[in-house]
Amino acid sequence: MRDFVTLDDLSNFEIEQIFRLADQMKEQTATWSGFCKGKILATLFFEPSTRTRLSFESAIGRLDGRALGFADPASSSIAKGETIADTARMVANYADLIAIRHNWAGSARVMAEYAQVPVINCGDGGHSHPTQGLIDLYTIVKRQGTIQKKTIGICGDLRYSRASHSLAIGVARFGGQLVHIAPSEFQMPEWVLTKLKYVYDAEPVEAGRISEVIGDLDVIYVNRLQAERLPPEIDPQSAQKAYQLNATIMEEAKLSSMIMHPLPRVNELAYELDSDPRAAYFEQSANGVPIRMALMVSLLGLEHLVLTKPPEQEIMEDLQQCGNPNCITSQEGYILSKSEVICSQPMVRVCAYCNELKD
Ligand code: NCD
Repeated sequence: MRDFVTLDDLSNFEIEQIFRLADQMKEQTATWSGFCKGKILATLFFEPSTRTRLSFESAIGRLDGRALGFADPASSSIAKGETIADTARMVANYADLIAIRHNWAGSARVMAEYAQVPVINCGDGGHSHPTQGLIDLYTIVKRQGTIQKKTIGICGDLRYSRASHSLAIGVARFGGQLVHIAPSEFQMPEWVLTKLKYVYDAEPVEAGRISEVIGDLDVIYVNRLQAERLPPEIDPQSAQKAYQLNATIMEEAKLSSMIMHPLPRVNELAYELDSDPRAAYFEQSANGVPIRMALMVSLLGLEHLVLTKPPEQEIMEDLQQCGNPNCITSQEGYILSKSEVICSQPMVRVCAYCNELKD
């Protein structure tokens, strides 16, 4: 049984297979109906969502499966204090597949450890959003032909945006050049930079303003300020003014470039860009359905060509607690701390749940 908790759970080959399957699902949707007949997807959304939850429900519906779940945590027993582990063991009896979005980093990994059915991470706090990562990589390949050697600028709130973290790691894995564009207080977190350096040998360029680098970019990926995750000392009003993409700035961009955004947008992406042929964000959100169809069919083992080899990760139990207050191990006391060795020389260990660096 395979879960999809981070992009690390799939090899590059498997990701490419999923893209091929998504192509077929997009071109001949009717041929695939019936593939998940009798299968039930549970969508457990403890945080707000429009695209992710609806596209999962649309995807399972197009495969003739069914979805059950909730979008309001206040209506679930978590509101009574139920743990993720107990929720996992119970929901696994009601569904063949679980899609979870939750506000603590590492929560989807805990669900995967306790559920006896495949678990898909639909966003775990400010940590990662691997299905969005798959959709973003796929959309780049569709427009640009490849990721290798393309220059991909990720602009906005890189510190708290989980979609940016998954995208950066995916781009590095497929040989793209990363440019991280953000004011210093919103730059990529240390754990992402460490992983990029020690695991993928990637050296991102850092810039403070989009106008400094726009002419070099093949992909301009913007994301919103994650106001719900900002520490109290940061004023969202002034932070929001720090970056905005508009038609004037786009005059300096390559004609062959593309504009992406995981959506929802607030005011970092001007509406005047919607008619620019380089705008790819609605196409990106549309790709959510075939990608999620292909992923579910693969995780359920209904398509033989993908998911043949489990990933190899060196995980060890660790007495040292994770120092991240937003990590699930800091929130639910029954979870044993674990670390993952991402490099042995020099020794670099991270929390296996939220990936924050350990000493
Ligand atoms: C993203 C998310 O929830 O992280 N949205 C999405 O799933 N498309 C991005 C965001 O909320 O900013």
